[in-house]
Amino acid sequence: MGNVKVSVAFLLAAVFCQLLLLPSPTKDLTDDVNGLRVVITGASSGIGEELTYQLAAMGATIVITARTEYKLRQVANKCKDLYGADVFPIAADLASFENASLVVSEGLNKLGGMDLLILNHFGDVEFGGYQHDPLNFQNALVVNMMSHAHIASRSVQALSQSKGRIVAVSSAVGFLGSPFMITYATAKSALNGFFTSLRHELTFNQSDVSVTLCHLGYIDTKSAERIKDNLILKPSSKKNCASEIVKSSMNRMSEMYFPAYFSWVHVFKTLFPSVMERAVQLLYKNV
Ligand SMILES: *[C@@H]1O[C@H](CO)[C@@H](O)[C@H](O)[C@H]1NC(C)=O
Ligand SMILES: *[C@@H]1O[C@H](CO)[C@@H](O)[C@H](O)[C@H]1NC(C)=O
Repeated sequence: MGNVKVSVAFLLAAVFCQLLLLPSPTKDLTDDVNGLRVVITGASSGIGEELTYQLAAMGATIVITARTEYKLRQVANKCKDLYGADVFPIAADLASFENASLVVSEGLNKLGGMDLLILNHFGDVEFGGYQHDPLNFQNALVVNMMSHAHIASRSVQALSQSKGRIVAVSSAVGFLGSPFMITYATAKSALNGFFTSLRHELTFNQSDVSVTLCHLGYIDTKSAERIKDNLILKPSSKKNCASEIVKSSMNRMSEMYFPAYFSWVHVFKTLFPSVMERAVQLLYKNV
């Protein structure tokens, strides 16, 4: 009985604190974003590309990176034509730490500092039934998790000087787990651990750098199409997703969920793990 009382009290206190921390709902963020120096990884397509357009439209100067140079140029040119924004492409394969370091140093050169780092890239993961290949698994974790940790670490000093922000784009499968994308879910789970702990340590060190961890659901991007045959869910809009990411980082929120109901999914997963696992299974089908 005592445990129940403690649990209920704890739950109410947590809900109350969370409500206090919610950002004001609709505020125009143009003034906050205007003039920011931003680095976005994985910006040649999908959510990264959409983030680039939205931030460019609000007056940010941006370094974008991905593997494919001509796609990056297209994104940069579009930002110039539509918004007169300065967007600098740096083509790099982030599977190498050396290249990841270069992105940070060249980015800092081009921008003269950094206010916002958005780690959004992923690659080299196979979807579908899990086939264990140790080398593929190791490489996938480098691209999808360790390179994020590396780029963030190399940027912390510049971000401290500007009271900057880090955004790490993770996925709901990082806390839920998922069939048919085991490697991806593993990398996202590790991202959650790294960036939650980095935030703790930065706070402990009284740093002004904020870390926003984004737990995304199923979004209508090209990469997500690869899993569509295995899912009965409808994808959510990448435009809305990108604008929620911008909003959460400007408000320096610790965690962000999109679609928003995933925050409840996270709560239920914690409270009733086996029920949630059964429920999540219903969203998948075998092909
Ligand atoms: C660094 O990136 C470039 C451009 O994508 C690529 O050609 C090169 O092989 C990469 N270097 C390493 C060590 O992976
Ligand atoms: C926090 O401070 C300690 C002690 O100065 C330092 O060694 C560590 O690198 C700092 N952590 C981060 C994430 O900057």
